[in-house]
Amino acid sequence: MTSTVPAVTAPAAATREKQSHRRLLMCSAKHFRIDYEINPYMHADVQPDPAAAAAEHDGIVAAHLAAGRTVEFVDADPACPDMTYTANAAAVRGDRAVLATLPPERAAETPHHRAWLEANGFDVADTPYAFSGQGDALACGDLLLAAHGQRTDIRAHRTLARHLGYEVVALRTTSTRWYDLDLALAVIHPGRTLAYNPEALDRASLRTVRGLGLDLIPVRPAEAAHFALNLISDGRTVTMTTGAPHLAADLRSLGLTVVELDTTELRKGGGGIRCTALTLDNPA
Ligand code: ARG
Repeated sequence: MTSTVPAVTAPAAATREKQSHRRLLMCSAKHFRIDYEINPYMHADVQPDPAAAAAEHDGIVAAHLAAGRTVEFVDADPACPDMTYTANAAAVRGDRAVLATLPPERAAETPHHRAWLEANGFDVADTPYAFSGQGDALACGDLLLAAHGQRTDIRAHRTLARHLGYEVVALRTTSTRWYDLDLALAVIHPGRTLAYNPEALDRASLRTVRGLGLDLIPVRPAEAAHFALNLISDGRTVTMTTGAPHLAADLRSLGLTVVELDTTELRKGGGGIRCTALTLDNPA
């Protein structure tokens, strides 16, 4: 597949953009385990190595700090083995948040997320419907690219629109392999550039994404299957997994600094770099 990489945009335009993805909430991988199997990548007989997982997580935190981002932490709970995937906590915009409604196996995380968000000044709303937080809700300027049909019930979208003031763009992935949208699609420059795996979105969603008027970087399915799209981009630095050289090269050709990190341990839980951070600085 040849990728159509959009032309490099003038840096002046980039600096006028409101900054985002530079204030992150994370949670240590101290209690990361596979206690249950709620996505096709989790196998209770393939456990993460605790020291390797801790080192991998430390490396991700260090990369964010080196990129000039701020990292805050919610305390890990030994009863919450998936809590290191903080992106699933909520969707956040300005000083407002919509708390996730996680699968029952992860429900014990939510009181911690609520407490952290409230203690840090966020006006927190709930939805009674399934909602996977930023796993299924990617901010792109005034748009919220929000999935439904896997971990998110479309009825949760109304709360996202109302409480956060986004125009919600509803998308559907094609399989449980893309149980969260952040495995299928990534925002590279909010309101300007997306990267996506065309095979992971259904036909109507492909039409929708292609009709947004944004620059699109197609990603090879094999790289997407390695969680290449599960990245954090602040529009200057992209922090992503190793094992996706074509996407890394496409991003570098746009003038971005690309930092590639090994995510072997996080992949055992069905996640990667994007999953480990809740972005707190989505402009209102
Ligand atoms: N084991 C976790 C789960 O299945 C992984 C979550 C990954 N998070 C994400 N944003 N894709 O819920």
